[in-house]
Amino acid sequence: MKMFLDTCNVEAVRNAADTGLISGVTTNPTLAKKANRPDYRKMISEMCDISGLESVSAQAREDQNADGMFREGIELDAIFPGKIAVKLPMNPHGLTAAKLLRRKKEIHTNITLTFTPNQALLAMEAKVTFISYFMGRQEDKIREKHGEDPKAPSEAESYAISEIRRDLERMVSYKERYGSESKILAASVRDFTHVTLAADCGVDVISMPPEVFWDIFSDPLGLTEDGIKRFLKDREPLTS
Ligand code: G3P
Repeated sequence: MKMFLDTCNVEAVRNAADTGLISGVTTNPTLAKKANRPDYRKMISEMCDISGLESVSAQAREDQNADGMFREGIELDAIFPGKIAVKLPMNPHGLTAAKLLRRKKEIHTNITLTFTPNQALLAMEAKVTFISYFMGRQEDKIREKHGEDPKAPSEAESYAISEIRRDLERMVSYKERYGSESKILAASVRDFTHVTLAADCGVDVISMPPEVFWDIFSDPLGLTEDGIKRFLKDREPLTS
């Protein structure tokens, strides 16, 4: 399983990549806006220069037909050929463009906004490189739809989690059953519980915000940090 960062903040990626644990980045227009990077392609180019990163996802305009997305995909790939994964929407135009980019140009693709196993099947058929399943947005929607009883908020939460688990497990099993080389990427990750859930289901990649990446170094009870302090204290009498 690989760990990617989901951000357009280049400095945050540099810091995290220094650990040697991050192998890719996913971006989108919302994240570019949040990071105040209207110069989207320049930001993508800076991400590509960070050592240790194998893959940088760059999103094409969502309102184009397949031909337009295909042409924009070629331009985006040219920023750093082979390292870019062209992010395309989960719709007929996006999937057709993905299939053409792969077949004609060997360009990597990432299908975004995937919410169901059937959509993942379509993406596998198009031979995309990554299938981005949006865990956080799926959870929000399911919780909203099923109502959150303020007296029992955990019921809506457990239902949402079980649905997400079922989706991800199905996607992973379809991939194996049909011999697809597409990688299941857990996106829209909101906290450490999503990381555990995605890993439980056997996804290939988890793309998380930098805050979540740093958060998972700790355990919720603070035992790791306490343990380090205690070892340091007990080390005091050691002479070598
Ligand atoms: O990669 C997709 C991700 O950025 C979406 O996250 O938090 O907007 O649902 P979010």
